[in-house]
Amino acid sequence: MDNYLPINSNSLRTDTQIGCDLYLYVKTIADSRYILYCRGDTIFENRKREMLLDRNISRLFIKKDDQQKYYEYLENNFHEIITDARIPPDERTKIVYSAATNLVKDLFNDPRAGSIKRTKTFAYNMVDYILLEGRAARSLLNIAIHEYYTYTHSVNVAAVGTLFAKELGFEDEDLKHFCSGILLHDVGKTRISTDILNKKGKLTKEEFDEIKKHPEMGVEILKETGNVFTDEYIVTSQHHENYDGTGYPRGLKKDEIHRCGRIARIIDVYDALTTDRPYAKAIRPFAALVEMKEKMLNCFDKELFVEFIRFSGPYDPRAKPRNGDYIQN
Ligand SMILES: [Fe+2]
Repeated sequence: MDNYLPINSNSLRTDTQIGCDLYLYVKTIADSRYILYCRGDTIFENRKREMLLDRNISRLFIKKDDQQKYYEYLENNFHEIITDARIPPDERTKIVYSAATNLVKDLFNDPRAGSIKRTKTFAYNMVDYILLEGRAARSLLNIAIHEYYTYTHSVNVAAVGTLFAKELGFEDEDLKHFCSGILLHDVGKTRISTDILNKKGKLTKEEFDEIKKHPEMGVEILKETGNVFTDEYIVTSQHHENYDGTGYPRGLKKDEIHRCGRIARIIDVYDALTTDRPYAKAIRPFAALVEMKEKMLNCFDKELFVEFIRFSGPYDPRAKPRNGDYIQN
């Protein structure tokens, strides 16, 4: 069982070549085993899909070693999958999320031109998905992540940020650059030692100085790729700038920080607080908003922060106020 991973058969398009072998899991009283259902180098034909539908089978399996091939398939067919009305919205969201996480994982493992370009393309598709799905895409917000990795963090921030920016009335094109910027915003961390990034205790001044370099290192990495970016640079370089000028790397304040940078600051903090990190446990979304308001208000553009509270409040079932919790505008 350990060598196989389940995948949702809805993510497979008929008349395409999946690129990895697909298996059925068959259990009888005597034993259980995996049976080859469709070879990766053959076409996944409609009759194969029909057969699964007839038998009410929605779960197929792939070999763990083939995981990368499957994700490549998802990415290459992403647009068709997310616009396929036969796939229930929740499942589409899960597909978007898992493909995004895998992509950003690649990006952080090897941040070169190829993976950065893939991230950009993916961000544009993800925005299409959010525009298309409207409220259903909000379920992206509810996918729980229990482990902290920079790449899952980036995917969370991108989902929250893009939905929020859409609510603020961003034009479609701006939304794409913003989403792509947010997926890439922490790429500079790949040039910082993981000992520092994953340190459990308090950072020394030298270690923190090192961390502070990641926004500008990120911009450098983007420039090295030769891709054309716009707001991506801003989000990457400004997501740690505080509204009152106490942030890094440049200590910009108020309007010196681009609106995209001010939004990125808010959602970056929100997601960090609501996700398990090496040095702190996740807190509930509503508690995160309270903490942001009470301890970090100086970091944010207050008007945008109030908008963000409005945006995140009513939709997150876990964000309901508990006794004694309240937010004042
Ligand atoms: Fe960062």
